[in-house]
Amino acid sequence: VERSFVMVKPDGVQRGLVGEIISRLERRGLKLVAARFMAVSRELAEKHYEVHRGKPFFEGLIRFITSGPVMAMVWEGPNAIEVIRSTMGTTNPVQAGPGTIRGDLAVDIGRNLVHGSDGPDTAEKEIALWFRPEDIVEYGRAADPWVVERP
Ligand code: GTP
Ligand code: MG
Repeated sequence: VERSFVMVKPDGVQRGLVGEIISRLERRGLKLVAARFMAVSRELAEKHYEVHRGKPFFEGLIRFITSGPVMAMVWEGPNAIEVIRSTMGTTNPVQAGPGTIRGDLAVDIGRNLVHGSDGPDTAEKEIALWFRPEDIVEYGRAADPWVVERP
């Protein structure tokens, strides 16, 4: 199975959409294995968005991500990274399809509600940045065989 780092950004928290977003990932069949509701320091935000340093939206992005609490999480499942990206919809909510989190709930690229790792290497890096290994909980669910043919 694969793991992905997911964060409900400050806009999602402020708009009361934490439950909605968690609920959509749960209903997709993914498994929550770590969660932390937290304020984000400038240092952590800059590390998380390091690849965007120097881009015109970088400063605004850092100010936004540190502007209020976020719900940081690790989700697990077969192909979790791709499954989560498709559940979130495209980066710009204007193009995000209906039925996706961004397509249903957002309109602005600078307020797109949620982050999900964009590949296996980034997922590994982000999980290590936001969580300690012991924060990740391994457990079985009775419904697992009803979600995955070979859990
Ligand atoms: P994340 O899951 O947040 O990483 O989004 P993403 O992977 O879909 O997009 P990307 O990593 O390319 O960009 C990171 C974040 O920066 C996006 O989610 C946006 O919030 C913001 N962002 C990216 N491009 C733009 C832009 O052109 N303008 C603005 N204002 N924000 C942008
Ligand atoms: Mg990204």
